[in-house]
Amino acid sequence: MKKQPKTARNLDTLFIKTYGCQMNEYDSSRMADMMKEAYGLRLVGQPADADVILMNTCSVREKAEEKVYSELGRYKKLKDKRPDMIIGVGGCVGQQEGERIQKRAPYVDIVFGPQTYHRLPEMVKKIRRERVKVTEIDMPEIEKFDHLPKAESHGIADCVTIMEGCDKFCTFCVVPYTRGPELSRPVTDILDECRQLLAGATLEISLLGQNVNGYRGMGPDGEEWDFTMLLYAVAELEGLKRLRFSTSHPMEMTAELCVAFGEIPQLMPYLHLPIQSGADALLKAMHRGHDREHYLQLIDALRQHCPDLALSSDFIVGYPGETDADFEQTLDLVRRVVYDSAYCFKYSPRPGTPAGKAEDDVPLAVKDARLQQLLSLMREQTRQAMQRQLGKTLQVLVEKDSREAGDMQGRTADFKIVHFKGNPRQVGQIMPVRITEAYGQSLRGELILAGD
Ligand code: SAH
Ligand code: SF4
Ligand code: F3S
Repeated sequence: MKKQPKTARNLDTLFIKTYGCQMNEYDSSRMADMMKEAYGLRLVGQPADADVILMNTCSVREKAEEKVYSELGRYKKLKDKRPDMIIGVGGCVGQQEGERIQKRAPYVDIVFGPQTYHRLPEMVKKIRRERVKVTEIDMPEIEKFDHLPKAESHGIADCVTIMEGCDKFCTFCVVPYTRGPELSRPVTDILDECRQLLAGATLEISLLGQNVNGYRGMGPDGEEWDFTMLLYAVAELEGLKRLRFSTSHPMEMTAELCVAFGEIPQLMPYLHLPIQSGADALLKAMHRGHDREHYLQLIDALRQHCPDLALSSDFIVGYPGETDADFEQTLDLVRRVVYDSAYCFKYSPRPGTPAGKAEDDVPLAVKDARLQQLLSLMREQTRQAMQRQLGKTLQVLVEKDSREAGDMQGRTADFKIVHFKGNPRQVGQIMPVRITEAYGQSLRGELILAGD
């Protein structure tokens, strides 16, 4: 055993490594806010410069745990040199693995989950005072949000988590176990947090949750509000230019929500609506709660209200029992819907899930081949979506300098990245850009200045 220093020195710096979804990104930024308030910790870009290292992990797909341990191995080397460094593992792997993490990596001081990170300052205090290891992965009833400091604007586009957890229990997915049950924040809290961000530099807000359209929160009138009601209320906030949300579930896309895409000017024409598979047999086996026809009808309704809507989705190939014919149904659905982009994954069995107990019977080579086929179809659809923008003048919200000197970067209403020659003074403005070049993942254009 190495000898511990007698007195803990001051903590100054914090490094956070974030994996996973946007909700984890949000949580990491809240952890940073909290550690700044509690200990004056300043974020640094390198683990070697940090007094406290936090990993915010994701366990949704394969090898998640292994990735965490190999990253931890790097941090151990740093801690060997500086034993008073504090290492914490949070997020969904923290929740699932709990004390197993400290058994395998004894230099980890703190293990916590997505619903306990508001206690981080207390945990750090305990470690420094008592020199113990801490694991806190219970799912508290109380709202973690009540314990977080006021959110700070981090830039032009910011996120606000409106609900936690998931009650859908798709057979392949760990989220209901790692993030717990669906829990919606009260409307007033959400509006206050949005106002707080809008008082800073924020102009665009994305409302986050694993299934935002499952939102059922207490309204200021004492009644339960659904997601569409919340959307209309957020859209009216002073200073909000653009509104987005992620992720939504096809089962809870109401007619009112489809209408909102045509009615709310601030709601941008981009929707991520995962389906996972185009085959009814698979949708049923996955416990998704709807069939292919329901999804196609939704897409029709959405496009009727918002003809320019850009769509994206998630797909899983090689779920247990998936036949060639099932996979053909997925390709056929993609051809029918025509997406702007999609995330495609090979199925990987996850511990603790119902599908994880079934035989993972689609051979790896078949999964690989299907993934490649789906990816090439998607790449072609993305390419065409980008090509369709050529010659158009699009309204671009300028977000930041681009890596190339003299270049600025922003996003179109339908979430495409655009680069153009511009000026840092344009950050925060919505500017007309004529698109001149289309690449795989981004566009390039020329700013149209008054008088052009
Ligand atoms: N709440 C969102 C998705 C959350 S997880 C929704 O319901 O759509 C993000 C994506 O990861 C899923 O949409 C799915 O495509 C993929 N995914 C989840 N579990 C997986 C697994 N075991 N194997 C492969 N992909 C998985
Ligand atoms: Fe996972 Fe399904 Fe919940 Fe999405 S809806 S988080 S895929 S269980
Ligand atoms: Fe991953 Fe947890 Fe998000 S498993 S996708 S970080 S909810």
